[in-house]
Amino acid sequence: IEAALSDRTIALVGLMGAGKSTVGRRLADTLGRKFFDSDNEIERAAGLSIADIFTLHGEAEFRRGERRVLERLLGDEPHVLATGGGAYLDPDTRDLLREKAVTIWLNADLETLWRRVSRRSHRPLLKADNPKGVLSRLLDERRPIYEQADLVVTSKEGPHKATVDSILKAL
Ligand code: S3P
Repeated sequence: IEAALSDRTIALVGLMGAGKSTVGRRLADTLGRKFFDSDNEIERAAGLSIADIFTLHGEAEFRRGERRVLERLLGDEPHVLATGGGAYLDPDTRDLLREKAVTIWLNADLETLWRRVSRRSHRPLLKADNPKGVLSRLLDERRPIYEQADLVVTSKEGPHKATVDSILKAL
């Protein structure tokens, strides 16, 4: 894995609130690599927030944009990449991620995810009457797919540094 680490992008996958962006940024700093967040890149390319893209163009169009952005990023030199929670679910995007990157599922339990996303929820998928129920359903539905990542690291309640250390150990 030494060789893999030196020449491949590290892509974090997992549900909203898993800590992909925070952990990814710290991991990149530690490794001296660039960091990209696919949601931010999509917003920049579209000139719209994720919420507005969903409202104005719909989820399917968002997914197409996400795929294009990931194709571009994955062609760049090895870096650390935080993907949006749905990116790994699309079969083509998943194949691309698995081909071009070491994928890590940042796993966390429902209570931890919920505590984090309920602090500031700009997430269009959670604009529902029972957002915690939606999150729970997404976790159940997506777990079998996220599990296919190359590595699984569980993020616990508490400082993200512990998660970064677990990733460095797992790599
Ligand atoms: C989504 C997760 C979001 C964002 C969009 C859809 C999903 O990213 O891409 O709202 O399908 O889980 P984060 O996981 O960074 O919140």
